[in-house]
Amino acid sequence: MAAMVRLLAVLAAGALAAQPDGKGGGEPVPEAEREENAKRIPCPFLAGLYQEGILKPDEYGRVNSQHMKEAMMAAGSTIPNAIFPSFGTVRFKEDDLHQTKRHWDYGLIPSGVIDDFGLEKDLSTLWLNIMTMNVPDKCIDAAGHAAMPSKFPCNANPQHVQHGYSTTIRDPRYDAEDPTRENRYKDWIEPTLVKNTTLNATERVMTFEGFTALLARMTVEGDLSGEWSLKPNFEYDGSNVQHYHPHISQVNAEALYHWGPWLAWVGLWEAYGYPYPDGSKEKYMTESDLRRFLLHGKLPLGWSPKPFTLEDVGYTMIALKGHQIPFGDLYSESLAKKFPLTSFLPKVLGTEWRYMRNYADNQRSLGFFLDNIVNPMPGPSALMV
Ligand SMILES: *[C@@H]1O[C@H](CO)[C@@H](O)[C@H](O)[C@H]1NC(C)=O
Ligand SMILES: *[C@@H]1O[C@H](CO)[C@@H](O)[C@H](O)[C@H]1NC(C)=O
Repeated sequence: MAAMVRLLAVLAAGALAAQPDGKGGGEPVPEAEREENAKRIPCPFLAGLYQEGILKPDEYGRVNSQHMKEAMMAAGSTIPNAIFPSFGTVRFKEDDLHQTKRHWDYGLIPSGVIDDFGLEKDLSTLWLNIMTMNVPDKCIDAAGHAAMPSKFPCNANPQHVQHGYSTTIRDPRYDAEDPTRENRYKDWIEPTLVKNTTLNATERVMTFEGFTALLARMTVEGDLSGEWSLKPNFEYDGSNVQHYHPHISQVNAEALYHWGPWLAWVGLWEAYGYPYPDGSKEKYMTESDLRRFLLHGKLPLGWSPKPFTLEDVGYTMIALKGHQIPFGDLYSESLAKKFPLTSFLPKVLGTEWRYMRNYADNQRSLGFFLDNIVNPMPGPSALMV
């Protein structure tokens, strides 16, 4: 019953929210151009929303926080869960084209609460460029050049949106040797796929076992370009996380190594996994959906919005415990202590908001908010090298 009320609340909220109106964003460019631009977006989900014309960046490639939230809701997310990606990443003022100064602005929470009552209001004014999230988009000189030249402004801080660890499938640095990305897809995804005719008669699937094996392998062999990254072999000394988060203890840094990839991959899993036919809470993803996401940056064929909650994402992150993801249990155990709701308030009351608060509390307890170190534009001297 409680679940039903919650589902109805989610659906009602979805119906009230307007389609993203491009406020602060732009009109979608023609489809062929979108397909080309989407290759630049490392996150397959954002790439998919962009290709659908739902996420509409401005001429520089930027979206604002309200706009990001609306795009997530168009995919079926609850409002609090839709705020999440913005919360961590959409953090730069409109006039800061190169994303040199990160702001912690909480306007999105009040605007989300207002939205919950059906009144749309943008109380946050922060932006993120979704076209320059890759390592070679980094500004290499004061004149604004990037290692990989493009029509979009270079980014002083791509490490801010890179995860602690990631596959290399959508990393443009490997496109010269693997232009279709097929080799990287095969390397990373094929070993995780199994044939199970109970789940799908015609195509292979990724089950939770394959999913956790993929995450475990990423921690060891993945790319380590994020601000939360450890060095190879999980070394802390000289790592990005030590540099960007000097006030976090080593053990908490080892826990927070996981937060980004888990939130993103578990989000994808919860939004686009199919439930097992036996009615258990287990899910699986299909090979064709994974190919569309990772190779082509597209949402599943014939997709439609599906309710997608922070509650499910949180509990699946907790369920990653005990799956041999190196240092992963540090994070899942911490979340298991903070995430569940207290029993003092009935579960229907503001459930997703309460989960959001608890998730943030977990991040805070690990030291997430202690440091805010970003790179300014390279100084003029960099022009000389
Ligand atoms: C296929 O999936 C079902 C769950 O629907 C599971 O019970 C069964 O063990 C799986 N079969 C194989 C061969 O893994
Ligand atoms: C199973 O695979 C077929 C063929 O790719 C696809 O059309 C169908 O939607 C899949 N079913 C599920 C439940 O994933």
